[in-house]
Amino acid sequence: MHRLEKKVAIITGGGSGIGRATALLFAQHGAKIVVSDIKKDLLDETVEILETTGTDVIPVESDITNEDDVKNIIHSAISEFKAINILVNSAGISSRMSEQEESSDFKVWQKVLSVNLNGTYLISKHVVPEMKKSGDGSIVNIGSIHSLVSFPLGGTKVGLKTGTFDAYPPSKGAVLQLTKNMAVQLAIDGIRVNCICPGYTKTMMTKAAWSDPTRFEYIKKRHPMGRMGTPEDIANACLFLASNESSFITGIALPVDGGYTAQ
Ligand SMILES: NC(=O)c1ccc[n+]([C@@H]2O[C@H](COP(=O)([O-])OP(=O)(O)OC[C@H]3O[C@@H](n4cnc5c(N)ncnc54)[C@H](O)[C@@H]3O)[C@@H](O)[C@H]2O)c1
Repeated sequence: MHRLEKKVAIITGGGSGIGRATALLFAQHGAKIVVSDIKKDLLDETVEILETTGTDVIPVESDITNEDDVKNIIHSAISEFKAINILVNSAGISSRMSEQEESSDFKVWQKVLSVNLNGTYLISKHVVPEMKKSGDGSIVNIGSIHSLVSFPLGGTKVGLKTGTFDAYPPSKGAVLQLTKNMAVQLAIDGIRVNCICPGYTKTMMTKAAWSDPTRFEYIKKRHPMGRMGTPEDIANACLFLASNESSFITGIALPVDGGYTAQ
């Protein structure tokens, strides 16, 4: 069954991990896809995979923190597909990734907030007027279990970064509050806004952790189901929240975390 027939979906961070898996699943369910990422090589790989499904796909290389780039994503979607029904905000970075590029802890803080929070805000702001014209819309933000709970105490013993003032949990907590605020404001327009809160998921972002056997064991044990998530676990939740099956659901935080936040 094609659950996204006739829908146009924009997916940010679609070059890798959760964004790529979501783009592929949405394509398999009949959506037309606008896929964006800051990294052209990753974006090209995703497009190659999507084209095997025979779907209509537009790649847009873009930095989600740059307003002109964001406007270009919207422009590409409208000029080619005439509407936008779904936005999945999957572009994101961890402090660990940002530390490789930035020189001071405050610059790391600003970078993480800029991509995870400001980027989510920026594209959502520009998508909303187009969704209002379509008369329906579903925005799915990829938050985190750290939208809901802190980094664990004790992780540093196994080499996990658990800095008390790490920007990642605040950035993802703010994404959840942005979700709720937008959901309430936009409900009357038929636009739903929800936040998925993934547990630790096996992607490029967490590679440093899952490629180290000690850390990998630690992370698996933190999840009651005893494993990390897969990008497909999260993509399936995106599909539900993007489709009409969730038509009375808005403003929620949906943990997809093997029980992590139930503890
Ligand atoms: N992997 C996890 O354990 C996990 C857990 C909870 C939440 N998340 C969130 O899920 C989302 C996807 O992460 P992932 O695990 O698939 O990681 P990933 O690193 O595999 O994918 C993230 C993608 O975002 C892109 N990106 C980064 N900065 C960008 C920018 N400024 N503009 C456009 N694209 C940009 C990257 O190039 C990459 O392709 C992120 O928001 C992340 O915070 C991940």
